[in-house]
Amino acid sequence: MSPATEQPQSNRRVLELSTLYEISKILGSSLDLEQSLTGILRILNSFMGMRKGTILLYDVKTGELSIRLALGMTSEEMARGKYQMGEGILGKVMQHGLPMVIPDIGQEPQFLDRTQSRGDLRAQPIAFIAVPIKVGGETVGVLSVDRLFGQAISFEEDVRVLAIVASLIGQAVNLQQHVMRERDGLLEQTRSLQQALRTRYRLDNIVGRSKRMGEIYEAVEQVSQTRATVLLRGESGTGKELIARAIHYNSPRASGPFVKLNCAALPQSLLESELFGHEKGAFTGATAAKKGRFELADGGSLFLDEIGDIPMTVQVKLLRVLQERCFERVGGTKTIAVDVRIVAATNQDLESAIARGEFREDLYYRLNVVPVLLPPLRERREDIPLLIEHFLAKYNRENNRKIRITGRVLQALLDYDWPGNVRELENSVERMVVMSRRRLVLPDDLPLPIAPGPDESEGGRIRPPAIRGRGATGQPTTGGLSTLRDLERQQIIRALTQANGVQAKAAALLGITPRQLGYRLRRYGVVRAYQVAGESHALEA
Ligand SMILES: Nc1ncnc2c1ncn2[C@@H]1O[C@H](COP(=O)(O)OP(=O)(O)OP(=O)(O)O)[C@@H](O)[C@H]1O
Ligand SMILES: [Mg+2]
Repeated sequence: MSPATEQPQSNRRVLELSTLYEISKILGSSLDLEQSLTGILRILNSFMGMRKGTILLYDVKTGELSIRLALGMTSEEMARGKYQMGEGILGKVMQHGLPMVIPDIGQEPQFLDRTQSRGDLRAQPIAFIAVPIKVGGETVGVLSVDRLFGQAISFEEDVRVLAIVASLIGQAVNLQQHVMRERDGLLEQTRSLQQALRTRYRLDNIVGRSKRMGEIYEAVEQVSQTRATVLLRGESGTGKELIARAIHYNSPRASGPFVKLNCAALPQSLLESELFGHEKGAFTGATAAKKGRFELADGGSLFLDEIGDIPMTVQVKLLRVLQERCFERVGGTKTIAVDVRIVAATNQDLESAIARGEFREDLYYRLNVVPVLLPPLRERREDIPLLIEHFLAKYNRENNRKIRITGRVLQALLDYDWPGNVRELENSVERMVVMSRRRLVLPDDLPLPIAPGPDESEGGRIRPPAIRGRGATGQPTTGGLSTLRDLERQQIIRALTQANGVQAKAAALLGITPRQLGYRLRRYGVVRAYQVAGESHALEA
């Protein structure tokens, strides 16, 4: 090779390398396919003098090859660029997966000039190069460029560079299709999760056939169809959150968000920014603007748990949102309007809080539009067997077990007072299923506070009706001396439960010495192993 031809040859190599380097940089910097492909066509134009760069992709569904991107073409010209498999030059490249070069398109009968974007083809001789875009050996589209005729480059070299570029494009297209598939999969997953949530919180999944629960289902059905604010009242563990979700998932907002905020868990300043959001720099640490729960719940429902615990300053702001349905972010001036259904819950006596001046009366009335009172479990004991059945089935399924309970265990569960309501019952059943070594749970396996008194475990059959403070009817009952004895026993058990089985702590709670507690434990026969959260404390008699 003579030095005269070597010089342009090495220049050409440098140019090719820089072109490929720039293109790989573009592909590495963005996931936006459109943007990347435009960048590639621009580089081919400015570095290599390749004009009218066009990227066509094949659509399997329509069986058509159409222009996805084209440099220097109007959208009408682009819209005309559609080819069947094997049709014209582009259709042939697509069909055979091989590059084609047309040295002068003005002379080529196969050139369809469908886009009519080049003016008079005879005015200026133009060469046309098209290479297949492949993904995993399969042709998915075509990359084509124009070359002004007479430039001293071999078409062979152009084809080689374009083939490399086309393979890079193929990878980018593949990646994007992958991302799209993933996104579609995620959307599908979200849809089915939504569906599952809706099923889970359908009213027929809430257990209870008592008259009191019947009234609650009716209230939920009615209120779901409106945007009215609901105030759920009831002791801890009675199912306030369950009902709040049921209201949302039975309402026309079911496909919107269900957002929950526990108002007791946060100090005032944080609570405000959690509810209403904040602007960047609103306070130390606010390094970026943040949406509050009201904004996040737009189009859905906002569940404000422990509403009785919000401080006065936040009460004022909440009142305004309830009245006007709009607010400003902390540190912001723009008024934001939202469409949110509010469900609030509390186990506090709000009326006394108002009397003490701790809760605003006007806010109370705004919240209490539809009050729903969830009864404690001891006031609907007829639901206990159903709930036990429901939780036994649930935890047997989850733990792959087949645990059953005896009639005496059922009786003990029916007699117990359930201060922690359904949650306590659910936890007790779960513990029975997990801890029981036998298939059949016996009274001895029951956690201490629920276990039948020593009379029964010692074989006595007659039990005073007031042994748990209340009879099966839920009515407080009175008894003789043995009632006092059992009340004391119950107090001790409760103190032990609270103290996680630590005797010294329980004694302090009861205001007696550990020695006195030890004496009583022996007297009442409290000897079973007491288990809390996987820890086991053996109480010696
Ligand atoms: N009627 C019911 N049927 C089935 N499960 C129930 C029922 N009521 C409550 N539960 C279950 O009991 C547990 C406690 O319910 P939830 O969290 O709704 O109570 P809560 O009133 O919000 O309690 P807290 O005031 O302590 O927050 C949950 O696991 C819930 O699924
Ligand atoms: Mg709750």
